[in-house]
Amino acid sequence: MSETLVLPTRTSLFHVIDPRVFGRPLLDELCSLATRVRQAAKTDAGARALRDLLPTRRAMLYFTQPSTRTFLSFNNACHILGMRTSEIRDPSTSSEVKGESFDDSIRTFSSYVDVIVMRTKESGRAAQAAKLMNGIPRPVPVINAGSGSDQHPTQALLDIYTLQRSFEEAGGIDGKVIGMMGDLKRGRTVRSLCYLMRNYSGVRLVFIAPEQFAMEPDVKAYLDQHRIPYTETNNLSDALPQLDAIYVTRMQTEWDTAGESRAIDLSRFSIGAPELARLKRDAIIMHPLPRGAEIDPSVDQDPRAMYWRQERNGMWMRVAVLIKIFGVENRIDEIERV
Ligand code: NCD
Repeated sequence: MSETLVLPTRTSLFHVIDPRVFGRPLLDELCSLATRVRQAAKTDAGARALRDLLPTRRAMLYFTQPSTRTFLSFNNACHILGMRTSEIRDPSTSSEVKGESFDDSIRTFSSYVDVIVMRTKESGRAAQAAKLMNGIPRPVPVINAGSGSDQHPTQALLDIYTLQRSFEEAGGIDGKVIGMMGDLKRGRTVRSLCYLMRNYSGVRLVFIAPEQFAMEPDVKAYLDQHRIPYTETNNLSDALPQLDAIYVTRMQTEWDTAGESRAIDLSRFSIGAPELARLKRDAIIMHPLPRGAEIDPSVDQDPRAMYWRQERNGMWMRVAVLIKIFGVENRIDEIERV
Protein backbone atom coordinates (compact mmCIF):
# COMPACT_ATOMS: atom_id res chain seq x y z
CA MET A 1 0.00 0.00 0.00
CA SER A 2 1.51 3.30 -1.00
CA GLU A 3 -0.59 5.38 1.40
CA THR A 4 1.71 7.73 3.28
CA LEU A 5 0.99 9.32 6.63
CA VAL A 6 1.04 12.95 5.69
CA LEU A 7 -1.46 15.67 6.36
CA PRO A 8 -3.44 16.87 3.40
CA THR A 9 -1.20 19.28 1.57
CA ARG A 10 -2.50 22.13 -0.53
CA THR A 11 -3.73 20.02 -3.39
CA SER A 12 -5.69 21.60 -6.21
CA LEU A 13 -8.80 21.33 -4.03
CA PHE A 14 -8.67 22.15 -0.33
CA HIS A 15 -11.65 23.95 1.23
CA VAL A 16 -15.00 23.64 -0.56
CA ILE A 17 -16.88 26.75 0.47
CA ASP A 18 -17.98 28.85 -2.47
CA PRO A 19 -19.09 27.39 -5.81
CA ARG A 20 -17.80 30.44 -7.66
CA VAL A 21 -14.22 29.16 -7.47
CA PHE A 22 -14.97 26.03 -9.52
CA GLY A 23 -13.75 26.21 -13.11
CA ARG A 24 -14.70 23.98 -16.01
CA PRO A 25 -11.57 21.74 -15.95
CA LEU A 26 -12.12 20.89 -12.27
CA LEU A 27 -15.85 20.28 -12.81
CA ASP A 28 -15.11 17.98 -15.74
CA GLU A 29 -12.46 16.17 -13.72
CA LEU A 30 -14.78 15.67 -10.74
CA CYS A 31 -17.59 14.34 -12.97
CA SER A 32 -15.21 11.95 -14.68
CA LEU A 33 -13.76 10.80 -11.33
CA ALA A 34 -17.27 10.18 -9.96
CA THR A 35 -18.11 7.96 -12.94
CA ARG A 36 -14.81 6.08 -12.84
CA VAL A 37 -15.12 5.40 -9.13
CA ARG A 38 -18.73 4.18 -9.33
CA GLN A 39 -17.68 1.84 -12.14
CA ALA A 40 -14.72 0.54 -10.14
CA ALA A 41 -16.96 -0.04 -7.09
CA LYS A 42 -19.14 -2.47 -9.05
CA THR A 43 -16.74 -5.35 -8.46
CA ASP A 44 -15.71 -6.67 -5.04
CA ALA A 45 -12.05 -6.22 -5.89
CA GLY A 46 -12.66 -2.64 -7.02
CA ALA A 47 -14.72 -1.79 -3.92
CA ARG A 48 -11.98 -3.21 -1.67
CA ALA A 49 -9.29 -1.28 -3.52
CA LEU A 50 -11.29 1.92 -3.04
CA ARG A 51 -11.54 1.16 0.67
CA ASP A 52 -7.75 0.98 0.76
CA LEU A 53 -7.43 4.46 -0.68
CA LEU A 54 -7.78 6.59 2.47
CA PRO A 55 -7.91 4.24 5.47
CA THR A 56 -5.79 6.53 7.63
CA ARG A 57 -7.98 9.59 7.13
CA ARG A 58 -10.71 10.70 9.48
CA ALA A 59 -13.64 13.01 8.82
CA MET A 60 -15.73 15.06 11.22
CA LEU A 61 -19.35 15.44 10.17
CA TYR A 62 -20.63 18.50 12.00
CA PHE A 63 -24.27 18.81 11.02
CA THR A 64 -26.19 21.05 13.38
CA GLN A 65 -29.00 21.60 10.86
CA PRO A 66 -31.31 18.75 9.80
CA SER A 67 -29.98 16.56 7.00
CA THR A 68 -30.72 13.13 5.63
CA ARG A 69 -29.15 12.89 2.17
CA THR A 70 -26.17 15.15 2.56
CA PHE A 71 -25.19 13.58 5.86
CA LEU A 72 -25.69 10.00 4.70
CA SER A 73 -24.02 10.53 1.36
CA PHE A 74 -20.94 12.12 2.93
CA ASN A 75 -20.85 9.44 5.61
CA ASN A 76 -21.03 6.67 3.02
CA ALA A 77 -18.64 8.45 0.65
CA CYS A 78 -16.07 8.48 3.47
CA HIS A 79 -16.66 4.79 4.17
CA ILE A 80 -16.32 3.86 0.48
CA LEU A 81 -12.80 5.32 0.68
CA GLY A 82 -12.02 3.52 3.95
CA MET A 83 -12.18 6.70 6.03
CA ARG A 84 -13.44 6.81 9.63
CA THR A 85 -16.10 9.32 10.57
CA SER A 86 -17.21 11.00 13.76
CA GLU A 87 -20.20 13.24 14.03
CA ILE A 88 -21.99 15.95 15.95
CA ARG A 89 -25.58 16.40 14.85
CA ASP A 90 -27.07 17.87 17.97
CA PRO A 91 -25.39 21.09 19.16
CA SER A 92 -26.73 20.47 22.67
CA THR A 93 -24.18 17.64 22.97
CA SER A 94 -21.21 19.84 22.06
CA SER A 95 -19.22 22.16 24.33
CA GLU A 96 -20.77 25.12 22.57
CA VAL A 97 -23.48 24.87 25.26
CA LYS A 98 -20.75 25.50 27.86
CA GLY A 99 -20.01 28.71 26.06
CA GLU A 100 -17.13 27.51 23.90
CA SER A 101 -16.80 29.77 20.90
CA PHE A 102 -17.51 28.49 17.40
CA ASP A 103 -13.87 29.02 16.45
CA ASP A 104 -12.60 27.03 19.42
CA SER A 105 -15.03 24.19 18.68
CA ILE A 106 -13.89 24.02 15.07
CA ARG A 107 -10.24 24.15 16.07
CA THR A 108 -10.91 21.27 18.47
CA PHE A 109 -12.53 19.16 15.73
CA SER A 110 -9.55 19.87 13.51
CA SER A 111 -7.22 18.44 16.18
CA TYR A 112 -8.71 14.99 15.74
CA VAL A 113 -9.56 14.69 12.05
CA ASP A 114 -8.29 15.35 8.53
CA VAL A 115 -11.38 17.02 7.07
CA ILE A 116 -14.43 18.80 8.51
CA VAL A 117 -17.76 18.57 6.68
CA MET A 118 -20.26 21.03 8.10
CA ARG A 119 -23.84 22.17 7.78
CA THR A 120 -25.18 25.06 9.80
CA LYS A 121 -28.36 27.09 10.03
CA GLU A 122 -26.33 30.29 9.88
CA SER A 123 -24.76 31.33 6.61
CA GLY A 124 -21.05 32.10 6.53
CA ARG A 125 -20.03 29.58 9.19
CA ALA A 126 -18.14 27.22 6.84
CA ALA A 127 -16.31 30.23 5.39
CA GLN A 128 -15.44 31.35 8.92
CA ALA A 129 -14.12 27.86 9.74
CA ALA A 130 -12.01 27.77 6.57
CA LYS A 131 -10.55 31.18 7.39
CA LEU A 132 -9.70 29.98 10.87
CA MET A 133 -7.99 26.89 9.42
CA ASN A 134 -5.89 29.06 7.12
CA GLY A 135 -4.37 30.73 10.15
CA ILE A 136 -3.42 27.70 12.28
CA PRO A 137 -0.39 25.37 12.05
CA ARG A 138 -2.42 22.23 11.29
CA PRO A 139 -5.15 23.31 8.92
CA VAL A 140 -7.65 20.73 7.69
CA PRO A 141 -9.96 21.26 4.74
CA VAL A 142 -13.50 22.42 5.43
CA ILE A 143 -16.39 21.34 3.22
CA ASN A 144 -19.56 23.41 3.25
CA ALA A 145 -22.49 20.98 3.29
CA GLY A 146 -25.07 23.76 3.42
CA SER A 147 -24.72 27.22 4.95
CA GLY A 148 -28.06 28.71 5.96
CA SER A 149 -30.09 29.86 2.98
CA ASP A 150 -26.90 30.95 1.24
CA GLN A 151 -24.87 28.17 -0.41
CA HIS A 152 -24.67 24.40 -0.86
CA PRO A 153 -21.66 23.84 -3.13
CA THR A 154 -21.49 20.03 -3.11
CA GLN A 155 -25.18 19.86 -4.03
CA ALA A 156 -24.40 22.09 -7.01
CA LEU A 157 -21.55 19.75 -7.98
CA LEU A 158 -23.84 16.73 -7.92
CA ASP A 159 -26.46 18.68 -9.85
CA ILE A 160 -23.88 19.46 -12.53
CA TYR A 161 -22.90 15.78 -12.56
CA THR A 162 -26.56 14.81 -13.02
CA LEU A 163 -27.08 17.33 -15.83
CA GLN A 164 -23.90 16.23 -17.55
CA ARG A 165 -24.77 12.53 -17.36
CA SER A 166 -28.29 13.18 -18.56
CA PHE A 167 -27.13 15.20 -21.56
CA GLU A 168 -24.11 13.04 -22.39
CA GLU A 169 -25.56 12.04 -25.76
CA ALA A 170 -27.06 15.48 -26.36
CA GLY A 171 -24.00 17.73 -26.39
CA GLY A 172 -23.62 18.14 -22.63
CA ILE A 173 -24.85 21.09 -20.58
CA ASP A 174 -23.76 23.74 -23.12
CA GLY A 175 -26.70 25.36 -24.87
CA LYS A 176 -29.39 23.92 -22.61
CA VAL A 177 -32.43 25.75 -21.29
CA ILE A 178 -32.68 25.07 -17.58
CA GLY A 179 -35.74 25.97 -15.51
CA MET A 180 -35.50 26.48 -11.76
CA MET A 181 -38.76 26.49 -9.86
CA GLY A 182 -40.06 27.05 -6.35
CA ASP A 183 -38.59 28.99 -3.46
CA LEU A 184 -35.68 30.52 -5.35
CA LYS A 185 -35.25 33.26 -2.76
CA ARG A 186 -34.43 31.05 0.21
CA GLY A 187 -33.26 27.86 -1.51
CA ARG A 188 -29.48 27.53 -1.31
CA THR A 189 -29.26 24.77 -3.91
CA VAL A 190 -30.47 26.89 -6.82
CA ARG A 191 -28.28 29.78 -5.71
CA SER A 192 -25.17 27.57 -5.82
CA LEU A 193 -26.17 25.94 -9.11
CA CYS A 194 -26.59 29.35 -10.76
CA TYR A 195 -23.00 30.18 -9.87
CA LEU A 196 -21.67 27.07 -11.62
CA MET A 197 -23.49 27.95 -14.84
CA ARG A 198 -20.77 30.41 -15.82
CA ASN A 199 -18.76 27.33 -16.85
CA TYR A 200 -21.10 26.37 -19.68
CA SER A 201 -21.69 28.23 -22.89
CA GLY A 202 -25.07 29.11 -24.31
CA VAL A 203 -27.03 28.09 -21.20
CA ARG A 204 -30.27 29.97 -20.61
CA LEU A 205 -32.06 29.95 -17.25
CA VAL A 206 -35.79 30.29 -16.66
CA PHE A 207 -36.77 31.16 -13.08
CA ILE A 208 -40.31 30.06 -12.25
CA ALA A 209 -41.39 31.35 -8.86
CA PRO A 210 -44.06 33.29 -7.01
CA GLU A 211 -43.04 36.99 -6.93
CA GLN A 212 -42.42 36.84 -3.16
CA PHE A 213 -39.91 34.02 -3.65
CA ALA A 214 -38.09 35.25 -6.75
CA MET A 215 -34.34 34.75 -7.18
CA GLU A 216 -32.35 37.27 -5.12
CA PRO A 217 -30.63 40.26 -6.78
CA ASP A 218 -27.11 39.11 -5.80
CA VAL A 219 -27.40 35.95 -7.93
CA LYS A 220 -29.02 37.87 -10.79
CA ALA A 221 -26.17 40.38 -10.69
CA TYR A 222 -23.69 37.49 -10.92
CA LEU A 223 -25.53 36.07 -13.92
CA ASP A 224 -25.56 39.49 -15.59
CA GLN A 225 -21.85 39.90 -14.93
CA HIS A 226 -21.14 36.53 -16.55
CA ARG A 227 -23.59 37.16 -19.41
CA ILE A 228 -25.79 34.20 -18.53
CA PRO A 229 -29.27 35.02 -19.84
CA TYR A 230 -32.25 34.37 -17.60
CA THR A 231 -35.94 35.12 -17.64
CA GLU A 232 -38.42 35.20 -14.78
CA THR A 233 -42.02 34.05 -14.82
CA ASN A 234 -44.74 32.77 -12.55
CA ASN A 235 -46.36 30.82 -15.37
CA LEU A 236 -45.10 27.24 -15.31
CA SER A 237 -47.36 26.04 -18.08
CA ASP A 238 -45.98 28.59 -20.56
CA ALA A 239 -42.39 27.93 -19.53
CA LEU A 240 -42.45 24.14 -19.71
CA PRO A 241 -42.23 23.40 -23.47
CA GLN A 242 -38.91 25.24 -23.91
CA LEU A 243 -37.08 23.51 -21.05
CA ASP A 244 -34.39 20.82 -21.35
CA ALA A 245 -34.32 20.44 -17.57
CA ILE A 246 -36.53 21.62 -14.76
CA TYR A 247 -34.98 21.86 -11.30
CA VAL A 248 -37.87 21.80 -8.84
CA THR A 249 -37.46 22.96 -5.23
CA ARG A 250 -39.69 22.95 -2.18
CA MET A 251 -40.93 25.93 -0.20
CA GLN A 252 -38.29 26.54 2.48
CA THR A 253 -40.92 26.80 5.22
CA GLU A 254 -38.33 26.72 7.99
CA TRP A 255 -37.43 30.32 7.16
CA ASP A 256 -41.04 31.57 7.40
CA THR A 257 -41.64 34.21 10.02
CA ALA A 258 -45.43 34.52 9.57
CA GLY A 259 -46.49 31.53 7.45
CA GLU A 260 -45.48 33.22 4.15
CA SER A 261 -45.19 29.89 2.32
CA ARG A 262 -48.71 28.86 3.21
CA ALA A 263 -50.07 31.84 1.28
CA ILE A 264 -48.70 30.35 -1.96
CA ASP A 265 -50.91 28.32 -4.29
CA LEU A 266 -48.34 25.54 -4.67
CA SER A 267 -50.37 23.83 -7.41
CA ARG A 268 -49.09 26.56 -9.78
CA PHE A 269 -45.50 25.51 -9.04
CA SER A 270 -45.88 21.75 -9.06
CA ILE A 271 -45.29 18.88 -11.46
CA GLY A 272 -47.99 16.29 -12.12
CA ALA A 273 -49.52 14.62 -15.16
CA PRO A 274 -50.62 17.84 -16.96
CA GLU A 275 -47.13 19.34 -16.63
CA LEU A 276 -45.48 16.13 -17.86
CA ALA A 277 -47.59 16.40 -20.99
CA ARG A 278 -46.14 19.84 -21.74
CA LEU A 279 -42.50 18.91 -21.06
CA LYS A 280 -40.18 17.84 -23.93
CA ARG A 281 -39.88 14.09 -24.34
CA ASP A 282 -36.17 14.13 -23.58
CA ALA A 283 -36.22 16.78 -20.84
CA ILE A 284 -35.26 15.87 -17.27
CA ILE A 285 -36.84 16.66 -13.92
CA MET A 286 -34.49 17.30 -11.00
CA HIS A 287 -35.07 18.04 -7.30
CA PRO A 288 -32.50 18.28 -4.49
CA LEU A 289 -35.01 16.54 -2.19
CA PRO A 290 -36.70 16.35 0.24
CA ARG A 291 -39.83 17.00 -1.77
CA GLY A 292 -43.13 18.34 -0.60
CA ALA A 293 -46.25 18.46 -2.74
CA GLU A 294 -44.36 20.09 -5.65
CA ILE A 295 -43.74 16.78 -7.42
CA ASP A 296 -46.53 14.25 -7.40
CA PRO A 297 -45.17 10.78 -6.50
CA SER A 298 -46.74 9.42 -9.71
CA VAL A 299 -44.10 11.42 -11.62
CA ASP A 300 -41.45 9.02 -10.22
CA GLN A 301 -42.50 6.47 -12.84
CA ASP A 302 -41.79 8.84 -15.72
CA PRO A 303 -38.41 8.20 -17.41
CA ARG A 304 -37.71 11.95 -17.24
CA ALA A 305 -37.74 11.90 -13.41
CA MET A 306 -34.06 12.15 -12.50
CA TYR A 307 -34.18 13.04 -8.79
CA TRP A 308 -33.60 9.57 -7.35
CA ARG A 309 -30.61 9.08 -9.62
CA GLN A 310 -29.52 12.62 -8.72
CA GLU A 311 -29.58 11.61 -5.05
CA ARG A 312 -27.33 8.62 -5.72
CA ASN A 313 -25.06 10.70 -7.95
CA GLY A 314 -24.48 12.81 -4.85
CA MET A 315 -22.66 10.06 -3.04
CA TRP A 316 -20.31 9.42 -5.96
CA MET A 317 -19.66 13.11 -6.47
CA ARG A 318 -18.75 13.40 -2.78
CA VAL A 319 -16.38 10.46 -3.17
CA ALA A 320 -14.78 12.35 -6.07
CA VAL A 321 -14.51 15.53 -3.99
CA LEU A 322 -12.76 13.66 -1.15
CA ILE A 323 -10.39 11.94 -3.60
CA LYS A 324 -9.46 15.31 -5.04
CA ILE A 325 -9.05 16.97 -1.63
CA PHE A 326 -6.66 14.24 -0.50
CA GLY A 327 -4.86 14.26 -3.84
CA VAL A 328 -5.19 10.53 -4.57
CA GLU A 329 -6.83 10.84 -7.99
CA ASN A 330 -3.78 9.31 -9.69
CA ARG A 331 -4.38 6.08 -7.82
CA ILE A 332 -7.74 5.50 -9.52
CA ASP A 333 -5.85 4.23 -12.61
CA GLU A 334 -4.44 1.30 -10.69
CA ILE A 335 -7.83 0.58 -9.06
CA GLU A 336 -9.43 0.43 -12.51
CA ARG A 337 -6.98 -2.34 -13.40
CA VAL A 338 -7.73 -4.61 -10.40
C1 NCD B 1 -31.43 20.68 0.23
C2 NCD B 1 -30.85 21.55 1.33
O1 NCD B 1 -30.64 21.09 2.45
O2 NCD B 1 -30.60 22.70 1.02
N1 NCD B 1 -31.44 19.34 0.57
C3 NCD B 1 -30.30 18.62 0.28
O3 NCD B 1 -29.23 18.90 0.78
N2 NCD B 1 -30.43 17.66 -0.63
C4 NCD B 1 -32.72 21.16 -0.29
C5 NCD B 1 -33.84 21.44 0.66
O4 NCD B 1 -33.75 21.18 1.86
O5 NCD B 1 -34.86 21.93 0.15
